[in-house]
Amino acid sequence: MKEAQRYLITSALPYANGPIHIGHLAGAYLPADIYVRWLRSIGKDVIFICGTDEHGVPITIKAKNENKTPQEIVDRYYKIINNSFAEFGISFDIFSRTSNKIHHQTSSDFFTKLNEKGIFTEKETEQYYDEQENQFLADRYITGTCPKCNNNRAYGDQCEKCGSSLSPDELINPISALSGKPPILKKTKNWFLPLDKIQNEFLNEYINSKKDWKPNVIGQCKSWLNEGLQARAMTRDLDWGVKVPLPKAQNKVLYVWFDAPIGYISATKELLPDTWEKYWKDPETQLVHFIGKDNIVFHCIIFPAMLHSHGDLILPSQVPANEFLNLEGEKLSTSRNHAIWLNEYLEDFKGKQDELRYVLTSIAPETKDSDFTWKDFQARVNNELCSIVGNFVNRVLVLSHKYFKGIIVHYDISNASDKIILTEIKKNQIEISKLIGEFKFREAQSELINIIRAGNKYITDNEPWHLIKTDEKRVGEILHTCLLITHGFAESALPFLPFTANKIFDLLNTPSKQSIKSGTQLGSPVLLFEKIEDSQIDLQIEKLKQKSNVKIVDVVKEKAETNNEIKPNISFDDFIKNDIRIATIIEAEKVENTDKLMKLKLDTGVDIRTVVSGISHCYLPEEIIGKQVCLLANLEPRKIKGIESKGMILMTENNEGKLVFVSSTDKAMNGATVR
Ligand code: 2FM
Ligand code: ZN
Repeated sequence: MKEAQRYLITSALPYANGPIHIGHLAGAYLPADIYVRWLRSIGKDVIFICGTDEHGVPITIKAKNENKTPQEIVDRYYKIINNSFAEFGISFDIFSRTSNKIHHQTSSDFFTKLNEKGIFTEKETEQYYDEQENQFLADRYITGTCPKCNNNRAYGDQCEKCGSSLSPDELINPISALSGKPPILKKTKNWFLPLDKIQNEFLNEYINSKKDWKPNVIGQCKSWLNEGLQARAMTRDLDWGVKVPLPKAQNKVLYVWFDAPIGYISATKELLPDTWEKYWKDPETQLVHFIGKDNIVFHCIIFPAMLHSHGDLILPSQVPANEFLNLEGEKLSTSRNHAIWLNEYLEDFKGKQDELRYVLTSIAPETKDSDFTWKDFQARVNNELCSIVGNFVNRVLVLSHKYFKGIIVHYDISNASDKIILTEIKKNQIEISKLIGEFKFREAQSELINIIRAGNKYITDNEPWHLIKTDEKRVGEILHTCLLITHGFAESALPFLPFTANKIFDLLNTPSKQSIKSGTQLGSPVLLFEKIEDSQIDLQIEKLKQKSNVKIVDVVKEKAETNNEIKPNISFDDFIKNDIRIATIIEAEKVENTDKLMKLKLDTGVDIRTVVSGISHCYLPEEIIGKQVCLLANLEPRKIKGIESKGMILMTENNEGKLVFVSSTDKAMNGATVR
């Protein structure tokens, strides 16, 4: 990508059906923010565009699951996501939404233009249709048996057991997740983007010309092209999304991957109603998309194909896609709740945004998947941010206060060793800039820490604490040099650690881009970073173990479960053999060396007894003491992990797959029978 004066930077529009986790941040938002802050710092004309992607089937599933409208779901998550980004200092110029009117209009016009140019092929295909619900079924709304591994809970687009990509017609015994009935095949017309044709006309050459794209990105693109692209439907039979602007396309919306990238254009229009065109139409503008690897095909192939077909819009110059971030050795998973959510991190680590930014950049999955572990987080914060950065800045301030009342002394750099170190730091800064320009944020940040490493060595070699007895003037010079190093560090740290860099500018009483002046009063020494204690980390690991054990089910699985056959009939006499009582939990403790077991003491109104229950992955003991539950009191006692358990607490699962207690809605007497 050539260097330019104007940049249009985007981060993938996150789906508004859940909060943001560290994998999202590391993949598409933090690197983009670093890049944008850097571009701004070198005086480029840059806008940073993002917003929520509010269409698509998963949002409708979530809404159905929670008995809410899709609009209610996206309103809720827009707020949460927007807030998390703001808290982490992701400096978008606009964070818009694809449910905005301007977006519907822009994507609708885009479709119309392509349609009028005769780009689409209209094709009738047979799709699954639910006769009871009178609607076509999106792939996710169909379950059935996987033809590859026999899993009878596979989805129409994927089998989560064996990981195969599927199409709905491959499923054996397909079932509609809406009605639980087998769907029928029904003809429907859709508008297809002829990617096969566009590949030959344009895409092969476009991708081949991208010599400086990352190998992971170009590799994926070439593999798609080598397989040969196929026409893809840009409209869907759904009622949530941007309506297809054609009278003969009632009840159809644009495919979410058609409208989502157009969201970048509509958000630019919203931000700059009068000047947006210079960002989208002037070939001098460099368009850069920051995304995760699962979005490569859409940003490198389908969106360019759309832009090319449209004409008069620029094409992506760079797509520095990242690979995936894992968590404690496992794939991050929203559905299994195996994730660190940004809003939760902020509750547990208040004011520690830069700590997470730092660690995520240190381990950024730039060339291959990488792994976040809490222990590594602790080690990097303690050994790098506290011991190297925090310690140096603190030392310089403490000594300046001790020897010069915190006033910067005058010095026209003349000493040879000072010149050497300051030149070295300049070189570091140039290297950092170069690396950021090449999207090598991980390396750039490590170079940033080298500035402070060099500073620490300089101060240790010069020993101002000894020299003060004999040469106060020289100590003043040394500290002046250290303050220059600190200021230089803060300048280069701004894109990576904006909160810390600004704290340093405040401490130095010298804003960014200004040189430190003699006579300036320095702020009081502070610790920029606190050590993270073992207990904090243990707590996080425990929390993660508990929540990621929770099995989250979505509507499709839930339906599949309720489809299970009802057990054979029993007589009333059989039923009343169950002695189910109301009881209160009076003590609770986790059974050691087990993942799920909790030892409970219950007041049954008749006696006090011990019951072992598999709930400790869902509850903390203190959360459930005092809770009234239903107990199957006459279940034969049995030993579990050496503890005699007398009875069984009745549980069910809520919509998110968490175990929850079955209990009386009103307070009842302990010992009251359930019948
Ligand atoms: O994968 C995702 O989360 C998508 N919502 C990304 C969309 S990016 C763009 F095209 F809008
Ligand atoms: Zn399978």
